[in-house]
Amino acid sequence: MKNKLLIGSALFYSVFSLNAQLPVYLDKKLSIDLRVQDALSKMTLEEKVKLCYAQSKFSSHGVPRLGIPELWMSDGPHGVRAEINWNDWGYAGWTNDSITAFPALTCLAATWNPELSGDYGNAIGEEARFRKKDVLLGPGLNIYRTPLNGRNFEYMGEDPYLASILCVPYIQELQKNGVAACVKHFALNNQELWRDNVDVNLSDRALYEIYLPAFKAAVHEGQAWSMMGAYNRVRGQHACHSDLLLNKILKEDWKFDGVVITDWGGCHDTYESAVNGLDIEMGSYTNGLTTESEFTYDDYYLANPYLEMLKKGEVSEETVNDKATRILRTHYRTSMNLDKPYGSVATKEHYDVAEEIGNEGIVLLKNSPVSKKKTPLLPLDASKYNNILVVGDNAVRFLNEGGGSSELKVKDMISPLDGLRSTYGEKIKFAQGYAAGKPMYGREEVIENDVVEKLRKEAVEMAKESDLIIMVGGLNKNHFQDCEGGDRLSFGLPFGQNELIEELLKVNPNMVLVLLSGNAVDMPWINKIPAIVQGWYLGTMGGKSLANVISGKVNPSGKLPFSFPAKLEDCGAHAFGEISYPGIDRRQEYKEDILVGYRWHDTKKIPALFPFGFGMSYTTFDYGKASASASSFSDNENLTVKISVKNSGKVSGKEVVQLYIGDETGKVMRPVKELKGFDKISLEPGEEREVSFTIKAQDLQYYDESISNWNVASGKFKAYIGSSSKDIRSTVSFTYKNNLTVNK
Ligand code: GLC
Repeated sequence: MKNKLLIGSALFYSVFSLNAQLPVYLDKKLSIDLRVQDALSKMTLEEKVKLCYAQSKFSSHGVPRLGIPELWMSDGPHGVRAEINWNDWGYAGWTNDSITAFPALTCLAATWNPELSGDYGNAIGEEARFRKKDVLLGPGLNIYRTPLNGRNFEYMGEDPYLASILCVPYIQELQKNGVAACVKHFALNNQELWRDNVDVNLSDRALYEIYLPAFKAAVHEGQAWSMMGAYNRVRGQHACHSDLLLNKILKEDWKFDGVVITDWGGCHDTYESAVNGLDIEMGSYTNGLTTESEFTYDDYYLANPYLEMLKKGEVSEETVNDKATRILRTHYRTSMNLDKPYGSVATKEHYDVAEEIGNEGIVLLKNSPVSKKKTPLLPLDASKYNNILVVGDNAVRFLNEGGGSSELKVKDMISPLDGLRSTYGEKIKFAQGYAAGKPMYGREEVIENDVVEKLRKEAVEMAKESDLIIMVGGLNKNHFQDCEGGDRLSFGLPFGQNELIEELLKVNPNMVLVLLSGNAVDMPWINKIPAIVQGWYLGTMGGKSLANVISGKVNPSGKLPFSFPAKLEDCGAHAFGEISYPGIDRRQEYKEDILVGYRWHDTKKIPALFPFGFGMSYTTFDYGKASASASSFSDNENLTVKISVKNSGKVSGKEVVQLYIGDETGKVMRPVKELKGFDKISLEPGEEREVSFTIKAQDLQYYDESISNWNVASGKFKAYIGSSSKDIRSTVSFTYKNNLTVNK
């Protein structure tokens, strides 16, 4: 009915258009929906079908006859990828496509700072706009389920609430540049091994409570204009044309009005794509990274085969009208948005945003005095040292290269070694220490033993003559490390780093270890190293952010967005054998169910080595006693919980005050507690502030499979407030009375 009304009014306007020679669909004084309907009414069936599939690697058709432009897309979530060839995965070799590499999204998540997320979205949106991209293929919102997943660095950690809060500003600010966010990979793409067809099976509770909330926030609060279907299957059907994910959840329940774009090569069936909510097919018959195919774009599932089905009446024309309506709406929001700004690239403002996100995302994991000394090793006071040895391939490696589709060609890059040299000058010496080979898809370069020995020996000799070692290691963007298209093969550090660390410690115990990675790693040397910094992939300004924190110019305030298990089998995804990870014969069951990350560690009483929400500071924060505005509340009322926090140290600092809630009603199995609020506050030495949280019914809810809907049990709950999921400083109990749902 709505469409008929719109078509009617479009016809009316076309006769009496305010600007007679301008057709309705081009008259920007009219609403997008009116213009969409007018454009649709002027298009042939062939033109509508052409909108639904790629014309090149990273663009889809427009309507040349009507002056409707093509839609240009680009990776990725951390920066705008260099120009790719029209019809193969090679880079086009342009000289005007170098950009800013922003820190990876795990680093953004580690800032726990929604305002910074908005700055991120605006900056990357300006760069995408300047590069004339209409769709930016990001952010990635898949949940961190296993430390082996090669793409965790592109995502926002293990907790759906943290990812939900942080993705919204990024999307909102990005889209203000007339660039569509393409939130990915919808859904349950939580590993790279067998990503193209592993069949994920899980409970409705795990689906709705853990894996969907961030995507729902992206649609509801973020107002995302596009979503990318994941490669994997969900309960037997490919996510890119899943009736459950796309028709029922995304478009019917969530009222998503944008477009669903496949992952590159994620489409496998014409009929399912026609009727199950897929709108634009990209990259078919490729592996999304390196392979090509003899098929032409017109052979795509939603190309000629779809046109044939429509002409034969095997699928309703309503399906192509709905797809075309959504695609045209996306055009009006982006390529045909006449009010969009012009964007900019590699500006000081963008570099400042990148540096600030690094400053606030870096996590101080350990900071203790060296043997006889009293003061902790960090921050590093230059006056105390004459020579500092920086060791590690990651101190100089271009970590924006490799990793898969999120790789970037940067205009500038401050490496950790550059950053430390600019702070400590000639005191800094460098030894590579280990070699990691070149990032290559599908395999790893073998480093000959004599090279390994030579590099290690050099570093150890230099360490003997140094006051202090800053080891910059971790993972990298090689295949089987933090890289798309494959998972890590082990939980430990690669490239002989553990042996190197042990050799260095033998000759010099004064070590700061900086781990650059997007994943937790095994830490056999944890008790021998005085200071450990989780540095993420920090992008263009990485070396500056790192030097800022190590020198104390910036007081670290990052908090882990995912747990660091002491050993791999302590992680829920690895506690139930192969069926749970990586799956058996491409079929997988998420046996840990809703107990992902700290939910698993808390509930199974298996302490993490470093817990979710953990991060140290150069100052200390004292918490008062939590109080609640009432002992109970019900239905649509809410409860306020307050607590005072004081900077009891000698330097200013930022603290992320975290609120977790535990359901003690016993109605259904629930984690001990779940993150339901956080507030990042900045305090001068001695300054005290009251932090308050408002608790509503939705903070208490669980997905009730008996009614296939959300529900809240009546009874006792507990609010936990702390500095991490483990470091709880105060709790307060309350009861909730649910008079609303059928299920008492
Ligand atoms: C890749 C990735 C996806 C990316 C797309 C285009 O295979 O899975 O994240 O945006 O294809 O490069």
